[in-house]
This record gives sequence, C-alpha cells and structure tokens, in this order.
Amino acid sequence: MAILKVLKLPDPRLKQVSAPVESFDQAVRDLVADLEETRLAGPAAVGIAAPQVGVLRRIIIVDVSTRPKTPNHGHLVLINPEILHWEGFAIGREGCLSVPDYTGNVIRATHIRLRAQDLDGVEHLYEMEGFEARAVQHEMDHLDGLLFVDRVVSRRTDLYRRQVHQPAVFPRVKAQ
Ligand code: NI
Repeated sequence: MAILKVLKLPDPRLKQVSAPVESFDQAVRDLVADLEETRLAGPAAVGIAAPQVGVLRRIIIVDVSTRPKTPNHGHLVLINPEILHWEGFAIGREGCLSVPDYTGNVIRATHIRLRAQDLDGVEHLYEMEGFEARAVQHEMDHLDGLLFVDRVVSRRTDLYRRQVHQPAVFPRVKAQ
C-alpha cells in the first residue's frame, strides 16, 4: 500500500472524464487500498475519487460514519456509480483534497437513489440522504471532471478561503 499524490487544481487531469471499470481484478483492489490510505493520510477526507490521484477510472470511496448523527451506510467503495433518482435540494459547505485552500457553498440533492458495484463487481442499490448523499454527489462529480468550484453559484460570494494558521510573530513594521 502507498499514499498517492493528490492532484490539485488546476491540474488538467482533474477535468477529464473517467472510464468505467470493466475487470474487477487485483489491480483494482490495490488501487482502492492505496486510495483509502491516501484519503486517511490527513487531512482525513470523507471521500476520494480515483481521478484525484491521476487514475481515470470510475471509482470513489465515501465514509461519513465519523460524523455524528449522520445517516450512513458505513465505509463504501463505489465502482461505476450511477444516480437513478434525485430529490430535494439544499445548500451546504464543501471542501476537497484537490482544492486545499478553499471551501464553497454548493447546491446538491438531499436524497438520491444510487446504483454501484463493489470490488467483486456485484451491483448494490442505496437510498441516501443528507451529508452522505452530498458526499457521493461531490465524489461522482470528480468522475466527470467537475470540482465543487465549478458548482458554486458565485465564485465571488460562495467561495471561502480556509483559515490560514499564521505563526505568532511580531506585527510587521512598514518599511519607511
Ligand atoms: Ni473532492
């Protein structure tokens, strides 16, 4: 297993459309193991998508179970995911390992019905809501070359710079 390098905006590979997984072999398992290690390598993210490490395959991992009071299906490896049904919408704040300096307000469906395959190629259906549904929609966007910054209503009012932790130093004295 290995921690992989996460591509950052504006890497052009983040704008590509990923291809479906067709063979459910050891190479896919190894990739998922590396993706998971990378997701947790801090800052731990609730999700990651294969194209974020430069592998243009339709694979995402989502796990929102660490968030309190959030309905969820636990740790999910979702291969070739497809949303069959959307319902409702809500605005929520999102961040992304590929856009480390910003968060943004994005409109997402509040309920989705999802079909995806697991590591053995077996299909599953999920009914998802709230933050889990949001995380899946965010990660699935990566498979189509979209980032949350492409979804904000206004880049001027809906993007927020993450807090920068400044070292405690004396106030800078203006040059004369
Ligand atoms: Ni992301």
